[in-house]
Amino acid sequence: MLNIPLPDSTFRDLRDYIYEKSGIYIADTKKYLIENRLLRILQEKNLNSFEDYLRLIKSGSNGNEHARLFDAVTTNETYFFREPDQLNIFVNEIMPRLSAQKKGSQPVRIWSAACSTGEEPYTLAMMLLEKGYARKQFEISGSDLSEAVLQSSRTALYNSYSVRNIPEQYLRKYFSGNGQTYSLGSSVKSMVKFMKINLIDDKNTGPLRNTDVIFCRNTLIYFDVKSKQRVTSNLYNCLNPGGYLFIGSSESLHNITRAFRPNVLNRVIAYQKV
Ligand SMILES: C[S@@+](CC[C@H](N)C(=O)[O-])C[C@H]1O[C@@H](n2cnc3c(N)ncnc32)[C@H](O)[C@@H]1O
Repeated sequence: MLNIPLPDSTFRDLRDYIYEKSGIYIADTKKYLIENRLLRILQEKNLNSFEDYLRLIKSGSNGNEHARLFDAVTTNETYFFREPDQLNIFVNEIMPRLSAQKKGSQPVRIWSAACSTGEEPYTLAMMLLEKGYARKQFEISGSDLSEAVLQSSRTALYNSYSVRNIPEQYLRKYFSGNGQTYSLGSSVKSMVKFMKINLIDDKNTGPLRNTDVIFCRNTLIYFDVKSKQRVTSNLYNCLNPGGYLFIGSSESLHNITRAFRPNVLNRVIAYQKV
């Protein structure tokens, strides 16, 4: 692999550009990450310097380059049945409340924001089916900034790492697999609608207005305080009054916003729009 150095000033320009467009803040200590991840793109494009790459990105002529940049800098770690305490509170406590409020006339609208490769929204779909909810009682959307992970979500082919926490009966019922690759069946696949949404940008969250429950887990950690405030404000505006927001169990809205009321249910915090 070629050794193209990333000068500090170009790193800062790139970092500022990524921050402005996505809200993702890359600390100085993560310079190596940008350098490593973008080097492959430079080589593919036969570019001799990171300055040339920055010029290409900023020229704005090629939307694909933006998508590739975001794909390269985002961290997409996720798996099925992640943080099950929250999932159980949602299915056993929150969903019955919301469903009763809808009186069967409207579906409960659920949004997995920053869903990466789709494990989270598909987990929610399977859990609701297992609880006996009918398809027409809920709608699930999944979104992310990265095109590449959205493509994987739609394909719904998973490796053994991703499925390792799936209870056996779910695995047998909803997947076909060979021990290495697991393919999610079309009955669940067809229940989730995926779309590209940049959470920092309030202009593109329109389709998810009037949502009842948002899962935005393990994503706020990539933002600085200002970006966290913009994202949580966008999420707040998308929720119906009384709607709920779940963030990752190691994340907090402390010092970010007071707009939500924290409901503590069995040690799980469900933030409610009041
Ligand atoms: C670690 S994954 C979280 C996946 C899942 N929510 C979970 O908890 O397992 C973080 C995701 O946030 C997405 N992301 C980062 N910045 C974003 C932004 N500004 N808008 C939308 N998604 C973003 C990344 O592409 C990545 O897929």
